[in-house]
Amino acid sequence: MRDAVAAARAPATTDTQWSTLMARFGRHLGRLERLLDEVYGPGERTSRELALLAGQLATSWQERPAELHALDAAREADPTWFTSQQMLGGVLYVDRYAGDLAGVRRAIPYLEELGLTYLHLMPLFEAPAENSDGGYAVSSYRAVDPSLGTMAELADLATELRTRGIALVVDFIFNHTSDEHAWARAARAGDPEHEAFYWFLPDRTMPDAYERTVREIFPDDHPGSFVPVPTPDGQGERWVWATFHSFQWDLNYANPAVFRAMAAEMLFLANQGVDILRMDAVAFIWKQLGTSCESLPQAHLLLQAFNAVCRIAAPAVLFKSEAIVHPDEVIEYIGVDECQLSYDPLQMALIWSSLATRDGRLLQQALERRHALPPGTSWVSYVRSHDDIGWTFADEDAAELGIDAAAHRRFLNRFFVDRFPGSFSRGVPFQDNPRTGDCRIAGTTASLAGLEAGDAGAVDRIVLAHAIVLSTGGIPLLFLGDEVGQLNDYAALDEPGHGEDTRWVNRPRYPAGAYAQRDDPSTDSGRVYARLRHLVEVRRRTPELAGNALITFDTHNPHLVAYQRPGPSTLVLVVANMADDPQHVDATTLSGLPPAAHDLLDGDVVDLRAGLTVPAHGVVWLRVERGGTDE
Ligand code: GLC
Ligand code: GLC
Repeated sequence: MRDAVAAARAPATTDTQWSTLMARFGRHLGRLERLLDEVYGPGERTSRELALLAGQLATSWQERPAELHALDAAREADPTWFTSQQMLGGVLYVDRYAGDLAGVRRAIPYLEELGLTYLHLMPLFEAPAENSDGGYAVSSYRAVDPSLGTMAELADLATELRTRGIALVVDFIFNHTSDEHAWARAARAGDPEHEAFYWFLPDRTMPDAYERTVREIFPDDHPGSFVPVPTPDGQGERWVWATFHSFQWDLNYANPAVFRAMAAEMLFLANQGVDILRMDAVAFIWKQLGTSCESLPQAHLLLQAFNAVCRIAAPAVLFKSEAIVHPDEVIEYIGVDECQLSYDPLQMALIWSSLATRDGRLLQQALERRHALPPGTSWVSYVRSHDDIGWTFADEDAAELGIDAAAHRRFLNRFFVDRFPGSFSRGVPFQDNPRTGDCRIAGTTASLAGLEAGDAGAVDRIVLAHAIVLSTGGIPLLFLGDEVGQLNDYAALDEPGHGEDTRWVNRPRYPAGAYAQRDDPSTDSGRVYARLRHLVEVRRRTPELAGNALITFDTHNPHLVAYQRPGPSTLVLVVANMADDPQHVDATTLSGLPPAAHDLLDGDVVDLRAGLTVPAHGVVWLRVERGGTDE
C-alpha cells in the first residue's frame, strides 16, 4: 500500500503538501482498512483494493484545487460551522427554476436576498433523455446534462457561491446508475467486469427469493425489485436488480471494485467544489437474502468508509443522509464518522399530520424523544421536498398516545388528497398500492396547506410550518417557490417522461407571477413572503436557535406544540398552535418561567402572569431569562 501511495506522488507536490497528506492518511487510513475488512473480509483481495484506493486518494488530493485545500483546513478548524442559526438552505431544479447553470448564477442576488447559505441543486448530471427520474438516473457523474451547462460551469458556480457565503449541495446518487451509464452499457453487452458492477441473475429463482422480504418502492413502474433485460446474445432474458425505476440499476457493493469506482466519482465531484453531498437512497445499498435489504449493517460500514475517504482526500465535504425510513433507522445514519447531516422526515411528516388533526401531540412527542443528535451533527429540517410525503412515524409511538397507526395513515392519505370531509388540502396520491394499502402524498406546501382550496387559514399554516422548521434547530431547507406560495403544477404530469409519477405536481417551474407579487402585501404571495422573510431575519439574530439543543415544554394543551431552545443566559420558548382557533396556556403552567417575556416576532413584552394566548395557526418565539427555569 505504501508503494501505491508513493507512486501516486506528482513531481509538483512539495514536501510540505505531501506531509499534510501523509498526516491525513495516518489519521484515517487505519479506519478505512478496518471498515473494508469488515465488509469484504480481510485477505488478499481486500488489501489489493485498498492499495489501489489509497493511490487514487493520493492522486485526487493532489488534484484538489488550492482554494479547496484552504477550505479543508478552515473546516477542520471549525467542524461545526454548519450548526449556526445563520445557516439557511434552499433547493431548486436548475432547469425548472433557472433554465440552466447560467440562470442559477443570475439568481444569486435573489438567493442572497433570501439569506441562503446552502444551495441544493437537484441532480443535474447526464441522464437518459426522458426517463431520468428527475435526474436520479445518472449516466455520468462527471458530466453535467448538456442542456444545463458544463462541469466547468458548475465548478465556477461553486466558487462564485462560496464567495457569497453559500455552500453548494449536490446529490451523490450511489445506490444505482442509469441503464445508459457506460458501466451499464458494457454490462448489457456482456463485459464480465461490468456485469459484476450490478446484480444480474439468470432466471427468476433468486429474484423470487429476494422479493419475498423486500418492499416495493415504485410499484406503478414495475412490481418487485427486478426487471428483465436481454442476454448479451439477444436470445434470452436475464434479471437485474432495480429498486426504483426499471432504468435505475442497483450497484452491487458486494464487489469491492464498485466501492472503489464510486469513491473516485465522489472525489471527482468533491474536487469541483461541492461542499455537501446528499447521499441518495442510503438505506438500499446492501442486499442480503432473507432480509428487507434496507439499512443493513454493511450499508453503515460502507457510508463510514466513504466518509473516511473524504476525511483523507476532501475533508471539507459533508454528507447528508437521505433515509426516509422508520425513525429508529434514520438516526443510525447520523454521526461525525458517517453522515454529519440528515433530513428529518419524521418532523416533516408530523408537521403535516398535526395540521390535519389540529393536534400537536405526535409532533411534540417526536421532538421530545427523537430530536436529540450526536455532537457535531445536525438535522436538515424541511416542510416538504421534491418527493412524496410518507407517514414514517413509529407505530409504537402513536400507540402510546392511543393512536392506531394504520388507521391514522389511512386518515392522513384521505385528508391530504381531499377525500375527507372538510379537508383544506389538495395533495395528489403517489404510488397508491391497493394491494399493500401503501400510499404517499405529492403536493406543494401551499396546495397542501389550503391555498389552492382557498382556505382562510392557508397563509398562516404555510408560515406556521416554516416557523417550526426554522426554530427546532438544524439547517432549515426551503423548497424555492414555496416562499411565495407556489401551487401544484398539474400540467407537469403531461410532460414527456413524467408518466405516472405524480411527484411532478410538486416540482413546478419558476413561479414568475408569484415572485412578481412578493413585495405586494395585498397578495397571498406577498403575505407569505414577508412573513417568512421576517422569520428568517429574526432567526439570524437569535443565537439560542443555533445547534440542536431542545427541551420540550408541556403546555397541557394538545393543540399546542411547545419547546425551549436554551442559550447561555436566556432561552427561547416556541409555542405553535396547530388549531383553527386561539389556544391558551394558563398562568400556572408558565409559572416556572420569569414573568416578563420578549416576543421576538412582534417586538412586544409579554406578561406571562396572565397566561399566554396563541392565535389560530399562530406561533410565538418568546425570549426569557433563564434564571427561574429548572428543566
Ligand atoms: C431518492 C430521491 C428520489 C428518487 C430516488 C431514487 O429517494 O429523492 O427522488 O426517486 O432516490 O434515486
Ligand atoms: C425514498 C423512500 C421512498 C420514497 C422514494 C422516492 O428512498 O424510501 O419512500 O417514496 O424514495 O420518492
